[in-house]
Amino acid sequence: MTEWKKSGWRAKPRIQMPDYTDAAKLEAVEAQLSKYPPLVFAGEARKLKKALGAASRGEAFLLQGGDCAEAFDQFSANGIRDTFKVMLQMAMVLTFGAKVPVVKVGRMAGQFAKPRSAPTETVDGLELPSYRGDIINELAFTPEARMPDPARMLQAYTQAAATLNLLRAFSTGGYADVHQVHQWTLGFTESEKAAKYRDLANRISDTLDFMKAAGIDSDRAHTLQTVDFYTSHESLLLEYEEALTRQDSTSGKWLAGSGHMIWIGDRTRQPDGAHVEFARGVLNPVGLKCGPTTTAEDLKVLMAKLNPENEAGKLTLIARFGAGKVGEHLPRLIKTVAEEGANVTWVCDPMHGNTIKSSTGYKTRPFELVLREVREFFSVHNAEGTVPGGVHFEMTGQDVTECTGGVRAVSEENLSDRYHTACDPRLNASQSLELAFLVAEELTSRREAQVAAKAG
Ligand code: PEP
Ligand code: CO
Repeated sequence: MTEWKKSGWRAKPRIQMPDYTDAAKLEAVEAQLSKYPPLVFAGEARKLKKALGAASRGEAFLLQGGDCAEAFDQFSANGIRDTFKVMLQMAMVLTFGAKVPVVKVGRMAGQFAKPRSAPTETVDGLELPSYRGDIINELAFTPEARMPDPARMLQAYTQAAATLNLLRAFSTGGYADVHQVHQWTLGFTESEKAAKYRDLANRISDTLDFMKAAGIDSDRAHTLQTVDFYTSHESLLLEYEEALTRQDSTSGKWLAGSGHMIWIGDRTRQPDGAHVEFARGVLNPVGLKCGPTTTAEDLKVLMAKLNPENEAGKLTLIARFGAGKVGEHLPRLIKTVAEEGANVTWVCDPMHGNTIKSSTGYKTRPFELVLREVREFFSVHNAEGTVPGGVHFEMTGQDVTECTGGVRAVSEENLSDRYHTACDPRLNASQSLELAFLVAEELTSRREAQVAAKAG
């Protein structure tokens, strides 16, 4: 394979990126970003890679979640805290189900750029460029707002840095204390409608009580109060990514300094395209979205390019086929992976294949379909004897009404109540936690079946 340069993507066909009109301004922004410190450190990216390697073998489980797109005007300490808090609650429930460590990765501190299905949008006869995320342009439907502005990259960097700073503080400052997290979760299961999850919650309580009585609690207080929390985003705006790419002084390899993990979207995974060219050269763990149109031929080339040394944890395949389609597509891709002898971590994104338009005109996702895709993902892996390594959700800690269904049911009529997303609909706090309980049940029955098979 040809030698890699952080600017090598510029010679490849690019899609889903803005055409900046002011070249001088763009260059000035890139020069400035290149001087700023990276947001993450190579040792952290390596540690995450190792954890994802464990997930590929069933020795850990990935929980990746957060906003579809972070927004400048929704940036607040409470917003970050609430998403972090729900992810910890979900992780605790999942840990109990999986009986292995849960690797926590936010779609946070860098998830600002969005691929779009159409380059322009027309409203009342006026055609303007599509909104591509706050790092590129503004949501407001005016020609000025929709004009891509390179200076927005500097604001995105600042917001990412401040977000990560708060996440690091929460991770080590006692906020992540397991007893505290469990108290919050009990709040959810106390509600009448969530009664079906009370048994699992009580079993977690018993376990914590036992640990306390046995003194494990005080001996290990530090481990129970701190948490490893990583960041990730779609590596879409390559000028921003390149400017934050730095050479690791210990290994000489290149680090995408914009976040711990980056991924390539379903629309930008062309084997000879700019996005794959950029991602193939960085030492970070890389995610690759796989959809119904992912072919075996492309997957083979992509696995070879994105994980040339076939390292465990380097490449995560994020399956997003849509409920009802997993049985048709996942087995064929699992077969391709097996034929190549490739190391991959399989993760389920049950969001992006299940977006529909509600009768009330909102872009939404029915909770039942999200759930169904997760179940199908597990059942294919159970049948194939392969490992379901994790889940990837669009979610928020806020009480939004963007996806329909769940125990505290959101109906199509309710969607307008608190519909705040600028892009895709997210699970709210209650729906996220409910999903974690359901995934924990899947993990528990998978483990029990494995134990039974061994015993038999
Ligand atoms: C996303 O994760 O927000 C996204 C756009 O997903 P996909 O590339 O799978 O459509
Ligand atoms: Co999305």
